[in-house]
Amino acid sequence: MSMLEKLRGHLPEPCLEGKTIWTDGEWRSARHGSTFTNVSPIDGSRLFDVARGMGEDVDAAVASARAAAPAWHAIGGAARARVLRAFAAEIRGASASLGLAETIDAGRPIALTGASGPQRAADLVEFYAGLADKLSGRVYDMPAGQSASMVREPYGVIAAITPWNYPLANALTKLAPILACGNTVVMKPAEQTPLVTMILPELLRKAGLPDGVVNVVTGLGQEAGAALVSHRDVAKISFTGSTQTGRRIAALAGEHLKGVVLELGGKSALIVFDDADIDRAADAAVFTSFMNQGQTCTSCNRIIVQRNVLDEFLTRCRAKLARIRFGDPLDPTTQVGPVVSKQQMERIERLTDGIVPVPLDLDCFRPTDGGYFVKPLIAVDFDPESAFARTEIFGPAMSIRTFDHDAEAFRLANDTEYGLAGSCWTSSLARAEMAKSSIQAGVIWINCVHVLTPAVPVSGHKSSGIGIEYGVDAIEQYMRVKSVVTLAGGWTSPFA
Ligand code: NAI
Ligand code: MG
Repeated sequence: MSMLEKLRGHLPEPCLEGKTIWTDGEWRSARHGSTFTNVSPIDGSRLFDVARGMGEDVDAAVASARAAAPAWHAIGGAARARVLRAFAAEIRGASASLGLAETIDAGRPIALTGASGPQRAADLVEFYAGLADKLSGRVYDMPAGQSASMVREPYGVIAAITPWNYPLANALTKLAPILACGNTVVMKPAEQTPLVTMILPELLRKAGLPDGVVNVVTGLGQEAGAALVSHRDVAKISFTGSTQTGRRIAALAGEHLKGVVLELGGKSALIVFDDADIDRAADAAVFTSFMNQGQTCTSCNRIIVQRNVLDEFLTRCRAKLARIRFGDPLDPTTQVGPVVSKQQMERIERLTDGIVPVPLDLDCFRPTDGGYFVKPLIAVDFDPESAFARTEIFGPAMSIRTFDHDAEAFRLANDTEYGLAGSCWTSSLARAEMAKSSIQAGVIWINCVHVLTPAVPVSGHKSSGIGIEYGVDAIEQYMRVKSVVTLAGGWTSPFA
């Protein structure tokens, strides 16, 4: 059965005919009729042509979101919370379709996309549902006869531009807080992975969301994406993706004086001290480097290990890597699938070209025919100034450097333009405390990695972003402040 046939019954029928733009509660083709091809990284097969939205499509989606904004705010937080809770239930109910769509489109293993992915996404939506009815402002102490208060109001229309590495999670990390605050949205999914976003409108409608509150424009970054960023009626941009594109978006948003929330790239470190549980540290290093083929912004694949434990650590990493099941992501026993696209595969190959790999037993590496698989790589000997060492690879590559003294470990960890995450392995409380204060990053894991809940905020330092994702703190970014001052007794002009 072809990948496309597998998808039938899981996506709305109009989408399969190229009507993938959702505005005003209807599926439409691009106004100019243009399309682009979406492929599956599992076998490189063409799935179906997706609408290539441009300026006019963005105009229509923004108009739809703008028209729906006042009523969505006016129903109040409790009513919005009910819709979001119902939406979370719909997500749990649709996990089979969401999982299949994400696996076929992005290559992430079905064991993750069909189970834990939708569950976590639903948890996130429920977290923000719980905040929707607790939004509040402030009242200030004023002299008698005067009052002053501050209310938070939604911005109106917000654009959510998302990447391809975790299509469902990326979309909902934006959608949930944006909607909870009473904004309306135009979503622009990555051109490589638009499928999951085609399932959401129906779930939202079943949950009771009025048409127009959420709109989707499929298209290319430079076209639909850029048109959204510069649109007069889009008040704010929430973006996840590369630092390079984040800079471009921030510059364009700057011209139009609108705010941005940017979750960008990383090149995070994982430090292994000699007093650590080396076996667990090796588990963490292998998991963070190779899960999702390394396509995770918070991946801590830059390993910094104390010299006297390097051999033991490396031996354990090689043994653990030899047991990971790389292969067909539709097989429920697979742990790691292909990378998202041919372009990404070639980019990774370019960045790792000429790097001398540590010899690995790769019997576990079973690529599918035509699939975009990249062999895992561990490197110990490389130029620390090379592109391999400096850029975000977003592929299955672990680099290892050694240190002798603690201060050197932290210096190496911070020797990067990025600051998204970090992981530190030690049994010493003093070293753990040093890691907390020394590593310049938005989230630091001590003796663990990738442990997050919807409540824990992540905020990129340095070139890893502006703003906050997750947690209560993300909420304020999607509301603006309005102060109101009232004088009971009549105001006298200073000119009088
Ligand atoms: P990208 O950042 O260009 O794409 C992400 C999203 O931005 C997509 O929806 C795209 O259509 C949109 N976009 C692109 N140009 C735009 C523009 N001028 N205006 C508005 N929207 C625009 O990332 P790309 O090219 O797919 O991946 C390249 C590299 O970026 C990866 O190898 C990886 O290193 C990094 N990346 C990082 C991610 C993260 O979570 N930090 C996620 C995806 C990619
Ligand atoms: Mg795809």
